[in-house]
Amino acid sequence: MDAVGELSWGARCAGLAFFGISLCVAALGVVLLLLRRWPWCGCHVCRAYLTGSWRRDFTNVGDWYAHLLRRSPTGTVHVHVLGCTVTANPANVEYMLKTRFDNFPKGKPFAALLGDLLGNGIFNVDGEAWRHQRKMASLELGSVAVRSYAYKIVAEEVETRLMPVLADAADGGTVLDLQDVFRRFAFDTICKISFGLDPSCLDREMPVSELADAFDTASRLSAMRGAAASPLLWRMKRLLNIGSERELKKAIKLIDGLAAAMIRERQKLGVANSHDLLSRFMASSRDARGAVDDKFLRDIVVSFFLAGRDTVSSALTTLFMLLSKNPDVAAAMRAEAGAGEKPVTYEHLKRLHYTHAVLYENMRLFPPVQFDSKFCAAADVLPDGTYVKGDARVMYHPYAMGRMPHIWGTEKDAFRPERWLTGHGGTFVPESLYRYPVFQAGLRVCLGKELAVTEMKAVSVAVVRAFDVEVVGENGRSGGAGGPRFVPGLTASISGGLPVKIKRI
Ligand code: HEM
Repeated sequence: MDAVGELSWGARCAGLAFFGISLCVAALGVVLLLLRRWPWCGCHVCRAYLTGSWRRDFTNVGDWYAHLLRRSPTGTVHVHVLGCTVTANPANVEYMLKTRFDNFPKGKPFAALLGDLLGNGIFNVDGEAWRHQRKMASLELGSVAVRSYAYKIVAEEVETRLMPVLADAADGGTVLDLQDVFRRFAFDTICKISFGLDPSCLDREMPVSELADAFDTASRLSAMRGAAASPLLWRMKRLLNIGSERELKKAIKLIDGLAAAMIRERQKLGVANSHDLLSRFMASSRDARGAVDDKFLRDIVVSFFLAGRDTVSSALTTLFMLLSKNPDVAAAMRAEAGAGEKPVTYEHLKRLHYTHAVLYENMRLFPPVQFDSKFCAAADVLPDGTYVKGDARVMYHPYAMGRMPHIWGTEKDAFRPERWLTGHGGTFVPESLYRYPVFQAGLRVCLGKELAVTEMKAVSVAVVRAFDVEVVGENGRSGGAGGPRFVPGLTASISGGLPVKIKRI
């Protein structure tokens, strides 16, 4: 080896040694950080959470929480390792969502969990940024023009796409994954309502669009961040761009690209006479120079996907799971809607109190958003006497609340739509949203509630009038109030889908 070779060999060795030492120092730093920040606790709840031993007795983490909350005299428990207070107490829910709204924002830690996916969209911001978007969104979603545009789209999707797919399955005797069908249906519908564009997911033989796929991945992986015992874990993975964080980054990049394409397409088509939400937002958010911030629009696009797609398809899926086990309820819906070939009109839908009750009863047992977290800004005491530290997480749990005897009585597990028909002449009477926070409640109550209920009514009535839906396989045996296994995610979806056989009436 000549002198130059020896020199470069020596330099390489020194470089390697330096790299090795740096790596060791960094690893030591991370270990020390973990030791300092990792929340240790040996209580039985935390042990069961960390070891996953709750799985021995419960199908879903929500079932375990419901069990713990039922046993708690206040309807509130702590999961110390998550630094989280979980409550099913309606007085606490009202306190957080209305009375002390400003002290229970979404908070920075939550915004960080979903920030890469949702950006500064309405779901992920507090304060002025939220107020501004809320005002705009409620104006648009409340307008008669947007509402009738939305209903027209839903009715069209049901008649021209959903019903033919179900009719084909009935005639061919094939087993269909109804969860997948409803997701495609809800995806097409929300794309048309929100952006005036048609991805045609429900067209027979079409693969689920890239966007829908990327969205599933991104929302699953973002939710996984929240379930980690320490945020350091996902933050480190993100820093190193490895594992689930690498996958998340890829999915979000795809979403960003497609959202940008959608916005460009809308800009090209013009917004003046369009009633889709994106056009309305574009028209109303131009600055003094007539320009619209693309990032702002991207965040709106993504928020409305999340809002309108998985929630509606989740509720429709569990609804048909319950109807399959309760054919008398399906028969009563059919009787209420009346026979006939013609689609039921919007006005007629509004008068269907029994169907309304069925939808609410389904979401009591299977809320599409099973839990919701807030952050306590300054230390506070909840109405049940629970002390909450400043900067701590508080979660209210609609899934558990639907299973509380102090709210729903001893028949809490029964699927009984009649419990909602307590008005004059057996009409539908809503429960207080603080006892039934399926659409959240208070100042941030869901803005798409009426639209979602109309959409679900239109679908369920059209399907039960024409078909019998029978769930087959594993998920056909579970269900009732016990329920299926859910995949962890921002909105509830059934593990393994919902395989069904369809028969014409
Ligand atoms: C069964 C269907 C639905 C359910 C169960 C549902 C439930 C919810 C829940 C729980 C929230 C609060 C989320 C949070 O802040 O963490 C929410 C917020 C919201 N929902 Fe819905 N939703 C449904 C359908 C829809 C639809 C179809 C739209 C619109 C097209 C929509 C628009 C919104 C918007 C804009 C918000 C944000 C409100 C705010 O933060 O001020 N939702 N929804």
